[in-house]
Amino acid sequence: MEKVIEVKRLFAGFDGIEILSDVSFSASKGEVTAIIGGSGSGKTTILKHLLGLYDIQRGSVSVLGQDLSLLTEKEMNNLYLQMGVFYQDGALLNSLTVAENIALPLQQQSNLPDNLIEEIVRMKLGLVNLEEAYRLYPSQLSGGMLKRAALARAIAMDPPLLFCDEPGAGLDPVSLESLDHLIINLKNLLGMSIVIITHEVSSILRIANHIVYLDKGVVVFEGSTAEAIDSEITELNDFFSAILNNPYKTSRS
Ligand SMILES: Nc1ncnc2c1ncn2[C@@H]1O[C@H](COP(=O)(O)OP(=O)(O)O)[C@@H](O)[C@H]1O
Ligand SMILES: [Mg+2]
Repeated sequence: MEKVIEVKRLFAGFDGIEILSDVSFSASKGEVTAIIGGSGSGKTTILKHLLGLYDIQRGSVSVLGQDLSLLTEKEMNNLYLQMGVFYQDGALLNSLTVAENIALPLQQQSNLPDNLIEEIVRMKLGLVNLEEAYRLYPSQLSGGMLKRAALARAIAMDPPLLFCDEPGAGLDPVSLESLDHLIINLKNLLGMSIVIITHEVSSILRIANHIVYLDKGVVVFEGSTAEAIDSEITELNDFFSAILNNPYKTSRS
């Protein structure tokens, strides 16, 4: 299967402290790859490497077939246009309306005329079921609506690759479930590959095909979601058991 991400033997450290130790994994086209692990295990550090925000100290990182350490700044910027990023806190600008927020990447990174941009913004808002928020400001939206608006902005440029860092953080279980369904629908509709960082077990079971489990900067498991659930690895067992052994949850269906 075609790889959209290949990380090989990546090490990273800050101030002499090793954060990532010999990290290798890949993500395939059209799949949802979940990078999971406890707080401080190095998930965001991996994401920042994938986004080209950190210099690669040792090892290699390829995204959409391109080895990041070989790219010029211009080539990196072009590659960056093919990645959507959906951050934990949504990160919308409060001084702009929802529509203006979504229009921003299109205005900055494309030469499209204003009327076409407006059309695209309406379409993206439609995709996340948020047409009614066109003229609203972020402060006027609920938590779930803010996430959907941020998602609309992340897909504004139709990226083939979407990164989500803790997209469900702060959501109640019902809003989380509907956000997960939305992510899956968008993936199917737009044919995106998705890399999601999360520690929401229910989300992982709903949306991920492929799992990379990280513990203290080391990949202790990589495989399918079914393999992860059946894994004998203690940390992974503990991670899934809380929800799978709870008779009131039906998230495995
Ligand atoms: N820029 C940095 N400088 C120093 N330490 C960092 C930096 N970024 C992250 N760390 C440390 O690296 C570890 C992993 O962090 P992070 O990748 O954010 O973990 P996660 O996203 O899994 O919670 C943590 O111990 C964190 O304190
Ligand atoms: Mg993090």
